[in-house]
Amino acid sequence: MRIENSVVIDKVSKDLIILRYNDTSTKYFEALWEIPEGVTYNAYLLIDGDTTVLFDTWKKGLESEFLNTLNSVIDIRDLDYVVIHHMEPDHSGSIKTLYERNPGITFIGHPMTSKLMRNLYGISPKFRAVKDNETLSTKNYQLAFIHAPWLHWPETMFTYIPQIKALITCDVFGAYTIPKSVFIDELSDEYISSMRKYFANIIGFYKDNVIKNLDKVLAVTEGNIEIIAPAHGAVIKGNLVNKAINLYREFTLKTPVNRKIVIAYSSMYGFVDGIMSHVAHVLSDWGFNVSIYKFTDKERASIGDLIGEANNALGIVLGVSTYDTEPFPLMDYIINLLIKKLKGGKPVLLITDYGWGDVVLRHVKTRLEKADFTVIDAISVNGIPTKEDLDKIDIALQSLKQALTQ
Ligand SMILES: Cc1cc2nc3c(=O)[nH]c(=O)nc-3n(C[C@H](O)[C@H](O)[C@H](O)COP(=O)(O)O)c2cc1C
Ligand SMILES: [Fe+2]
Ligand SMILES: [Fe+2]
Repeated sequence: MRIENSVVIDKVSKDLIILRYNDTSTKYFEALWEIPEGVTYNAYLLIDGDTTVLFDTWKKGLESEFLNTLNSVIDIRDLDYVVIHHMEPDHSGSIKTLYERNPGITFIGHPMTSKLMRNLYGISPKFRAVKDNETLSTKNYQLAFIHAPWLHWPETMFTYIPQIKALITCDVFGAYTIPKSVFIDELSDEYISSMRKYFANIIGFYKDNVIKNLDKVLAVTEGNIEIIAPAHGAVIKGNLVNKAINLYREFTLKTPVNRKIVIAYSSMYGFVDGIMSHVAHVLSDWGFNVSIYKFTDKERASIGDLIGEANNALGIVLGVSTYDTEPFPLMDYIINLLIKKLKGGKPVLLITDYGWGDVVLRHVKTRLEKADFTVIDAISVNGIPTKEDLDKIDIALQSLKQALTQ
């Protein structure tokens, strides 16, 4: 049973309110990633006496829902500032409507934001471009705007509010899923995998910027962060803040500290399937924690989940059938995503299968190596594996084990 779309309005602190939309309708986030778990868009509103500051909005298409929600808390004509942390339309969706309803609003953002406002929404409202660490003072609060480029677009920034030690982070620290409450009580394994999936799917391509920006934020805030308020998922507070920051560091690690191996393969008529059952069996027997993502005539795994889990796997095994002289299309696509989002750094065992022309192996191997993956071994099988093929595969598995337990 699917829950209906719904709205949550709640306090994050005395004067900071969350306006959250629980989206159960979007099937493919960014028209790409499967999200049966749903997603939230979190906007925040600071009401400090006469001054009101809105941080971000909701997804494009939810303008009337957003306006109604905001109107139930304040009169839009009283809104003074809208801080735009990120121009992707899952957050900026209502800015045009806000501007039309109240042309007096001062929009605040990174210097690149005004051009994006014009290009994406055709508007040029009153705009204050803020420098890195520039501040805005209201009666009781001082907002510091920290540029966080490439998390997840070039114009992204965070807001730090020292008086409540809150860091508003937009996509960073976000998660897919619709948490039951505004704050999360614990970073459960399930919640961590939602965060990792969001991280790998959305920010993975820019992972080199994560640590750089986190270190900068920790320096600017002197580590005084008690609330992390992201734009997707739950608000993180108290002792979970440091845990979340450390998790983010882990997400960027090329060599994780676990025993996870992700096996991903296609199989049209069961040839690769047979080989991979053997591979999974051997690796499980050796105590690895194996996750299988298969693409067959009976099932199609979630590619978003696969990328999320592969991001922190110790190693990857790929099984690729040959299809019209090329890698099976879904595997071709997955290999592309692994290259783009994981950025290499992991051992991979590659097994391909063909009927009459052994053309795929070399091509995929070269692509993976160019992308900084370590191809432990690459084996091509012609249809049913022979005894010799199986021996080669067993030797390759030994090499993989050795590479992963060094
Ligand atoms: C639609 C289709 C296209 C194929 N195209 C090729 C091809 O271009 N070259 C080739 O050597 N084998 C090709 N094959 C053969 C398969 O790659 C081979 O049978 C392999 O063992 C399939 O493994 P699977 O059933 O696990 O997917 C094709 C098979 C199918 C069903
Ligand atoms: Fe984004
Ligand atoms: Fe987002």
